[in-house]
Amino acid sequence: MEWGRIGGMEIDWAALRAAAIEAMRHAYAPYSDFPVGVAGLVDDGRVVVGCNVENASYGVGLCAECGLVSSLAATGGGRLVAVSCVDANGNPLMPCGRCRQLLWEHGGADCLVEAVPRPLTMAELLPHAFGPEDLDKVNGPASGPEVPAALAKWRGRGTVFVHPDLSGGATVWTGYWERSGGSPQESDVAKGVLEEGPNFPTAAEAVAWGQVRTPRIVVVAADGGLTWAGEGEPPEGIPDRWQQD
Ligand code: THU
Repeated sequence: MEWGRIGGMEIDWAALRAAAIEAMRHAYAPYSDFPVGVAGLVDDGRVVVGCNVENASYGVGLCAECGLVSSLAATGGGRLVAVSCVDANGNPLMPCGRCRQLLWEHGGADCLVEAVPRPLTMAELLPHAFGPEDLDKVNGPASGPEVPAALAKWRGRGTVFVHPDLSGGATVWTGYWERSGGSPQESDVAKGVLEEGPNFPTAAEAVAWGQVRTPRIVVVAADGGLTWAGEGEPPEGIPDRWQQD
């Protein structure tokens, strides 16, 4: 079985657990003698891992999940789809309260956590959770009017492709925000769609949707021709600027 995407392929729980067990073997837990390993499947197919790392100053020890979310961010971000956390026997271990909050931030309500007899959703593990949306309710979105909180870290990165589509026989304009293309340093970041845009009556509105997200905007005309609606000089291969009708 292959690693899955959310809403797509199956989640290979056995492989995810194996990755957690391998990480557990690297735990540094001389004080509790309770090694923990965790593995998370990311929505782009990556698997990130973590292990607990304790300290002579007991209270500052790091849970395995802390390492997991750090590794998630350090290797390109994305959303956690499924998580397996294991104890020294390789059996599923329930994340502690603080770590449920960490997983909530990066996986949200639908992220699955391995448990017996069945995986549990984060909504089950952390009911009535506090999350980024609660900040937005009071302060407004921290990262612009239309970018979902979960995608805030991608703002300014990636590329938006704007293109026409058919909706009920009429031509509408829409777009999608793609991970790749942000900068040369990001060339090794996995490709994948971050967000699908809504339908707009005009290309200009779809371009405006893109401008909230990234300075890199490519308009794909009905005939497949590409024009640049982004900031700065057009990249190689897209010499012409998009002209508003
Ligand atoms: N631990 C984790 O790594 N994750 C959890 O969710 C539960 C607890 C670690 C912390 C500490 O190093 C050891 O397990 C014993 O509490």
